[in-house]
Formats: sequence, structure tokens, C-alpha cells
Amino acid sequence: MWPLLLLGLLALIGPRPAAFAMDALERSQLREEARDMFYHAYRAYMENAYPADELMPLSCKGRVRGQEPSRGDIDDSLGNFSLTLVDTLDTLAVLGDFEEFEHGVKLVIRDVTFDTDLVVSVFETNIRMLGGLLSAHILAEYFQQRAGIMSWYRGELLSMAKDLGFRLLPAFNTTTGIPHGRVNLRHGMRSLENLRETCTACAGTMVLEMAALSRLSGEPVFEEKAHRAMDVLWQMRHRSSDLMGTVLNIHSGDWVRRDSGVGAGIDSYYEYCLKAYILLGEEKYLGRFNRHYDAVMKYISQGPLLLDVLMHRPHTNSRNFMDALLAFWPGLQVLKGDIRPAVETHEMLYQVIQRHNLLPEAFTTDFQVHWGQHPLRPEFLESTYFLYRATQDPYYLQVGKHALQALQKYARVPCGYAAVKDVRTAAHEDRMDSFVLAETFKYLFLLFAEPADLVLDLDEFIFTTEAHLLPLSLSTSGNASAAQLNPSALKVAPPIEPTAQNGHDLDEPRTCPSTLHLFPESVRRPLKNMVNGMCPRRSHRRKLHAVQFQVGNPEHMKAVRDMGIAIITLPDGRLQLLHTFANVSERIPVLVPSQTNRIILP
Ligand SMILES: *[C@@H]1O[C@H](CO)[C@@H](O)[C@H](O)[C@H]1NC(C)=O
Ligand SMILES: *[C@@H]1O[C@H](CO)[C@@H](O)[C@H](O)[C@H]1NC(C)=O
Ligand SMILES: *[C@@H]1O[C@H](CO)[C@@H](O)[C@H](O)[C@H]1NC(C)=O
Ligand SMILES: *[C@@H]1O[C@H](CO)[C@@H](O)[C@H](O)[C@H]1NC(C)=O
Repeated sequence: MWPLLLLGLLALIGPRPAAFAMDALERSQLREEARDMFYHAYRAYMENAYPADELMPLSCKGRVRGQEPSRGDIDDSLGNFSLTLVDTLDTLAVLGDFEEFEHGVKLVIRDVTFDTDLVVSVFETNIRMLGGLLSAHILAEYFQQRAGIMSWYRGELLSMAKDLGFRLLPAFNTTTGIPHGRVNLRHGMRSLENLRETCTACAGTMVLEMAALSRLSGEPVFEEKAHRAMDVLWQMRHRSSDLMGTVLNIHSGDWVRRDSGVGAGIDSYYEYCLKAYILLGEEKYLGRFNRHYDAVMKYISQGPLLLDVLMHRPHTNSRNFMDALLAFWPGLQVLKGDIRPAVETHEMLYQVIQRHNLLPEAFTTDFQVHWGQHPLRPEFLESTYFLYRATQDPYYLQVGKHALQALQKYARVPCGYAAVKDVRTAAHEDRMDSFVLAETFKYLFLLFAEPADLVLDLDEFIFTTEAHLLPLSLSTSGNASAAQLNPSALKVAPPIEPTAQNGHDLDEPRTCPSTLHLFPESVRRPLKNMVNGMCPRRSHRRKLHAVQFQVGNPEHMKAVRDMGIAIITLPDGRLQLLHTFANVSERIPVLVPSQTNRIILP
């Protein structure tokens, strides 16, 4: 009995699998390769596109709004304000490139203006531009004090952030206080008042940047507006499920789309509930986050999968595919301290990536491509980085290596990195979003960097949803003059390696969770071959449509079972097909009797 129990325990906690180990040399080579990748993309932008907002990596020129065919909503990120450089400044700082950081700050101060007759997305402008300006301002002041550089700097970036902040404010002038989705940089809401709909994430991803702006500038209005919007959103949650919908009417406060997931349209609202608590120390945000989190884990989380439901009918799946944006969720779970489901969902995503080379923009519950695009998004690497920081499991370095090699193979072009139009054909798209430099390469570099390689102690910062750095010292400062940087928050000397002794309780939210070693292999092992086991094999991947299905046909019955679908006979003789997800993990119910998974055959 005892030896058996002991063996079981050993299997659970270790030993750490040697198979994934990575030696220091290989790790530093990968770190340097990640750095080179960043510079390949950065130089391509600076030499061929700047001061345009983005690089078009196939045309090798800048994307200027109005000069290229409109791409619809995505173009609302572009405000003729050198988006990519502003978004990238703090990556240069993270890489320790003081010289280029200083050069970039000078260019932004010299060239970037906001008095432009363009309609931009309030959300994107806040997270990319305002977040980029604030983070660069904070780091410029630090390097000034600590590294003795940039003695000329006088807070110009903060003044620019304030200018931009005031240009976003008219969007908050709504009946509910929930901001409009778009604003004209020069004319405010003029002739835009009729736009009534916005997404939950769009309205609920303002508070970190706005609070930082208020606390650094001494102008309280930004923070007030953003808190108000968060309060109203909280009021709009479904009162029995505690879930949020995706799209809402900013004047009436009614839901327009009641789909509820953790991906597109909602994602960073949940993230900002938790991070507002961490950055600002306001308990109400933790309470809200925990209520939402419990609801997500109860209704949306299905084993490693996260499937949208309807907020008012949370037992009903509203779609049968997952989008790539939800890949940030395991990282947020790490921040919360809920490592086990983070390991599971991350493992599921990694298997999808191994199957399709890159994470498709959306994939079905049986892991087929739903939307094939891959715009080099950062979310999966972000989660990989946080899982590695939390567990120190070298498996995550191997995952990062695989992701790095895929980017080199499928996205690198002579003039930067190009988005992939369809992971199935690997065709390129003439697009390199600013987040590739601001986030994707930042997280990739940080994954392989040792704390001693960094000029900053990242534990003293929180990453915004755009991977911009805001110092945790903001929480103790109600206003600008009080917002002195904690001298120990930023340092040039290598930080002391955290050890298990100073590890914190994982329930205590921190930017960097303690290095509590959980040996996630024991959690991943049951998920092995989840994706390949679920998908019909390539060789006989003939689609079987419901109308062609014949009950007596053993091949059809097997095909259905291979897809993880159980067949049961109802009392009236009809057959019912149930998605099982069986053998994926013991946490998954054998039957998931939700409406979209249920197919009744005649
Ligand atoms: C954006 O910048 C380009 C190039 O500098 C310029 O030609 C264009 O007029 C600007 N657009 C607006 C709306 O200001
Ligand atoms: C807010 O909107 C109202 C009605 O649309 C308008 O009359 C008012 O001037 C606006 N206020 C500000 C500060 O923009
Ligand atoms: C900010 O704090 C300082 C010292 O804590 C105080 O003297 C100052 O009046 C405050 N400023 C504002 C704008 O509240
Ligand atoms: C799940 O596992 C059990 C026993 O290990 C096996 O009998 C069953 O066929 C498996 N189900 C699926 C769907 O693979």
C-alpha cells in the first residue's frame, strides 16, 4: 500500500523530465536569435516604412491610411501617428538597446502629432499608442536617473500621452459612460454619434493606461472615466451566470450579442479586472474578477477547451470553434495562480499548432482549421512565457523554440515578417501588425532571457494587454507628484534570482508568480495526442456529412467514434450523437450535452 502510494506521489511531483532540458548555450542562442528576429523586422520598418503606421512587408513600404485600399475595421488602428515605432519603444528598452531607444524617443517627439482628421479605434489607440507612450516615458525617466542617459528628456512623451488622452475623452460622453468604439482625433465625436455599438473588451480595456496617465500627469479625469466604464460593465453582467456578452449598446446599456467566451470581443476585459486590482490595489476589481473567473470555469471551460456559451443560457454552446485570441487565457490563469487548467489549455493549443504549423485564427472543437489566417499574434507566446516563469519547466522553452522556428520558416520575408493568409497554404499577406514588434518578439526574447540578461526587474512591472510595462509602484500613488518610481523597481544590476524560499502563495496575484515548481508534465501527460487522437487521420480525411451517415455502415460508425462522438439510441429508436471528449482528461465530463454538440439523426 505505502510503496504504491509513494510511487503515485512521485509520479505526480517529479522527477522533472530530462527529455525537455535545454542547456544554457542553446538557450542563449535562441535568445539571440529572437533578438535578431526583432531587429530584422524593426529595421525593415524603420528603413522602409517609418513614419508610416505599419510596414507592408511584401511591398516593402509603409502602410498609409487612405493610400492603400481600405481593409475595414483593422485600419482603425492607424492614425498617421507612427503606430509601430510608438508601440515598439519599450521593446527596445527590454532588449537593453539604450541607444536605439533614445533615438526612437527623439523621433517620436519630433515627428508624431495627433491633430489629424482620422477616425481611430479608441481601444487600439489606448492600448497601443497611449500604453506605448506611457511605458516609454516611464523607462526614459528611469534610464535618465539610473543609466545616466537621456539627460535632455523632460517628460515630452507624457505631454504627448496627455494630448492623446484628451482626444479620446469625447468618446466617453455617452448616456451610460461606456465609451464609443471610435473617435475622430481632431473632431471628437462629430458626425460619429450614431455609432451605438461597441465590444466588451473595447470598453473594458482602458483602465490601466488611463489610471497611469492620471497618476503620472495629475489629471484625474482619465482614470475617473475609465473606472466609471468598468463599473457600468460590471452592472451589465448576467445576474445569474456572472458572464458577459460580446457586443453592447453604449446608450441603452443593452446587450447586442450575448455570446460569452474568453476570446475575441471580451478577452482583455477579464484581464483588466485582474490587472486593475494588481496595479491599482482596488479590492473591488479582484472581487469582480473572481466572480467572472468562476463563471468562465463553470460554463465556458470544458476540459482544456474554452467554448462560447450564451450569457443567459450558459449551458448552451453558441459556437463550435475557438479563436486564437483566447490563447492569452492560460497566461492570465498563471497570474491568478490557477496553474493546472493553464497547463491543460496551453497544451491543447500547442498540439493545434503542431498540427497546423501555426495557430489558425480559429479552429473547431475537433481541431480543424476554421479560419486559416495567422497574423503573428503574441498570445500563445505570452502564455508560454508566463507558464515558464511560473513552473521553470524546460518544456516551455522547447515550445518556444518550436514557435520560433515556425516564425522563421513560415513568416520571415526579406523585408520583415509577413502575416500568413492561410496556415494550410502558408501563403503570405502584406501585413505586419505593430503588435509583432511590441509583443510577439518581446515575449519570445523574454522567454529565453535569464533574469540576469535583463536591464529591468520585470517583477516590479505589470504587462498591459499590449505588453507595455507599467510599474506596480503606481498603486501607492494617487497622483503625479507622488508617482515616484520605486528605486528598486528599476535597476541595471542583475536581479537576485528568485528561489522557492521567497516564493509567494500562488493565490496572491503578482506580475511574476513564484517559482513554485509544479512539474506540469503530470498534467500534460493525460492530454498527449489529444489533437491527433481527435482528428481523423489525413490519409482518410473524407468528410462524412450527416445526410450520408448510415447506421449500419461500420466505417461510418468508426469515423464518428474517432471524432470523439458517442452514439446512443433513444427510446423512440432515433440515434443521438454526443460529443464525448472522452479520454482527453479526467476533468472532462464524458458527455457534453450542449445543444450545438448534439445532433439528432432522423
Ligand atoms: C497621413 O500622412 C500622409 C503622409 O505623411 C499624408 O499624406 C496624409 O495627408 C495624412 N493623412 C491625414 C488624414 O492627415
Ligand atoms: C456630450 O454630448 C452631448 C450630446 O451629444 C453634447 O451636447 C455635449 O456637448 C457633449 N459634451 C462634451 C464635453 O463633449
Ligand atoms: C499629489 O500629491 C502631492 C504629495 O503627495 C500633493 O502635494 C499634491 O497636492 C497632489 N496633487 C494633486 C494634483 O492631487
Ligand atoms: C476511452 O478509453 C476507454 C478505456 O481506456 C476505451 O474503452 C474507450 O474506447 C475510449 N474512448 C474513446 C472515445 O477513445
